[in-house]
Amino acid sequence: MSGGLYRLEKPGLPQRAAIIGAGTMGLGVAECFALAGLEVVIVDETPGASQQALGRLNQRVRGHVEAGLLPEAAIAAAHRVRAAEDIKSAVASSDLVFEAAPERIEIKRDVLAACDAHAPAAAIIATNTSSLPIDDLAAFVERKGRFLGMHFFNPPEWTPAVEVIPSVQTDPEIVARAREFLLAIGKKPATVASGPGFVANRIQFALFREALACVEDGLATPQEVDAVVRSSFGFRLPFYGPFQIADMAGLDVYASIMDVLSEGLGADWEAPESLRDIVAEGRLGTKALAGFYEYSEDERAALLIERDRRYAALSRLLDGFPQ
Ligand SMILES: NC(=O)c1ccc[n+]([C@@H]2O[C@H](COP(=O)([O-])OP(=O)(O)OC[C@H]3O[C@@H](n4cnc5c(N)ncnc54)[C@H](O)[C@@H]3O)[C@@H](O)[C@H]2O)c1
Repeated sequence: MSGGLYRLEKPGLPQRAAIIGAGTMGLGVAECFALAGLEVVIVDETPGASQQALGRLNQRVRGHVEAGLLPEAAIAAAHRVRAAEDIKSAVASSDLVFEAAPERIEIKRDVLAACDAHAPAAAIIATNTSSLPIDDLAAFVERKGRFLGMHFFNPPEWTPAVEVIPSVQTDPEIVARAREFLLAIGKKPATVASGPGFVANRIQFALFREALACVEDGLATPQEVDAVVRSSFGFRLPFYGPFQIADMAGLDVYASIMDVLSEGLGADWEAPESLRDIVAEGRLGTKALAGFYEYSEDERAALLIERDRRYAALSRLLDGFPQ
């Protein structure tokens, strides 16, 4: 997490955040924002619940300090977070409203409408929804240009990615400002469109669906599936995404593997047209100096040795953890 200097370094970005819904995600995001130097107000369903949530936030930060994950100063930063009586007073002087209420459309409707009615006109209104279409949620606010998805992952204090999801009516300047804000507080924003599951959950749940299918088909136990995933392609993922990994493996190899998979598992597994086309063009990945990415000879050599350096470092790091 950033050291609280963000406010000094980035004038013009949000300084005062209101977090609506102080549960798993709301509290984690409150911790992120508070430690980055924002003034933070949290509010839950009732004043009592908001006060209790404030107690949990302080406990949570203290736990992180005791575990050596945060400096002592984090405790004071968390103590500056306030609990509001209701949404109206929570958002009244905010420039960023962060909605983290339960994933139920009728709750989001009421909460977002209240935020929209009471927040200052210039405030950004963001939702942490993990699955509801942003265009549907945009219907609940009048100032659609200032509304967008800001999808943090659990636990938000430590997970770098945040999906920034504009609706069709979000002002591009607000998207840029949201991204700049997230970068300033030490996150890695990625702007994605509002399809089902956005990007991360669509891919994460494809993996989960197939993990379950492997167990149902009797290939392995859940424990064995976990062990294989973590120590095979999961081992690569901190450093490379699926396209870079495919480039390094060889796209012709990928297409051939998909032929075998589709023969055994059905037409859903056939190599997509986009993969067939790229292979037909001879763009086979690093070995051809072009695939989803392009490489010079020097870049390819540097990439491969850097890959090995990273994997060796990760192997050493993992040795320090119980497997
Ligand atoms: N849990 C995750 O891993 C995760 C990850 C990413 C995104 N999300 C999304 O974040 C949002 C919150 O999820 P969560 O897991 O933190 O849920 P949660 O149930 O832990 O927290 C929701 C909080 O909202 C409060 N609440 C209910 N009605 C309210 C109201 N009218 N006004 C204010 N607060 C109200 C609840 O009391 C609760 O404290 C959801 O949209 C969810 O899809 C969750």
